[in-house]
Amino acid sequence: MSLVVDNIGLLVTNDPGLGRGPLGTIEDASVVVEDGVVVSVGRRGQAADERIDAAGRCVLPGFVDSHSHLVFAGDRAEEFTARMAGTPYDGGGIRVTTEKTRSSATSELIDLTAQRVAEARRSGTTTIEIKSGYGLNVADEVRSLEVASTFSTETTFLGAHLVPAEFEGRTDDYVDLVCGEMLEATAPLANWIDVFCERGAFDADQSARVLDAGRAAGLGLRLHANQLGHGPGVQLAVEKGCASVDHCTYLSDDDVEALAASDTVATFLPATDFSTRQPYPDARRVIDAGAQVAIASNCNPGSSYTTSLPFCVALAVRDMGMTIEEAVRSVTVGGARALRRPDLGRLTLGSAGHAVILEATSYHHLAYRPGVQLVAQVIG
Ligand code: NIG
Repeated sequence: MSLVVDNIGLLVTNDPGLGRGPLGTIEDASVVVEDGVVVSVGRRGQAADERIDAAGRCVLPGFVDSHSHLVFAGDRAEEFTARMAGTPYDGGGIRVTTEKTRSSATSELIDLTAQRVAEARRSGTTTIEIKSGYGLNVADEVRSLEVASTFSTETTFLGAHLVPAEFEGRTDDYVDLVCGEMLEATAPLANWIDVFCERGAFDADQSARVLDAGRAAGLGLRLHANQLGHGPGVQLAVEKGCASVDHCTYLSDDDVEALAASDTVATFLPATDFSTRQPYPDARRVIDAGAQVAIASNCNPGSSYTTSLPFCVALAVRDMGMTIEEAVRSVTVGGARALRRPDLGRLTLGSAGHAVILEATSYHHLAYRPGVQLVAQVIG
């Protein structure tokens, strides 16, 4: 079965060799998808079994959200309200959500996650990575990843999110559990492992142990780092060959240099800095140094309760020194690179037929019209 998206006013292919500028844009275009894969990109008027009329609007590759924590119960609206009144974010609320998540039925976790995935899709996300990390014991981490795998093939074991209350003062014992029994039980359900490497969570040595154990179990590596202050996380991520190091709010010159000389993607999470009143990362400095970048939602109940990548694009352009083209690439090919998925984030021959039709004639509207529902249709 083939499908043509026809009458596209402005198509973003993300292949500069196919069209104009860094987004490889083509005017008056059409894209043909067969069995979920792009088989032709050309002028308007191509034929296929089914036709969607884009009516002259802008079409982009589906957004790739490479960082989310969608499996959780309850919310932390009170914590957010206190933060707006001056209480700083320190990650401690992860234990509150862990308690709620542990005591919820699996059917409830499935329903809540389904709602969040659907919400993300409505704002154009066609691929979303989902982490565990609110179970923090063997049974609940397994359960979280079972739920996550129902909705995504990109699942991440984040047992090392925070030390749970029952291990208070015994972080190394908890790391033993994460690297041992917990990893053994969760590895078949995940393709990535992640650690929160930050003061108050896990230090560089503990994080390195978890990453090494994850690699030995066949998982790809990712890291949360440099969210709340400067620290060793970015250098550790580069040294260990992580696919992505996420947050990167506080970066030293050495961190930027290390990122630029590596394959590790610096993934920015601007909705987090918005919601925690942190400074925004200086993306301009990182891009100018030559590092690979991505933008993700980090949807979670504590530091960033949004699934909207268009909102993140608007923040990146307004507050992080990115051009709109860089921000659009960051939520498409950037996210794909952070997940090591070259088939995603582009509309070129052989790539996944995931596309977004905007309710606008230009992608500029994503930053220009913040807070407005600009996604008319999601394909794939
Ligand atoms: O990436 N920092 C660690 N994890 C999440 C926050 C989780 C929470 O506060 O519940 C983050 O911001």
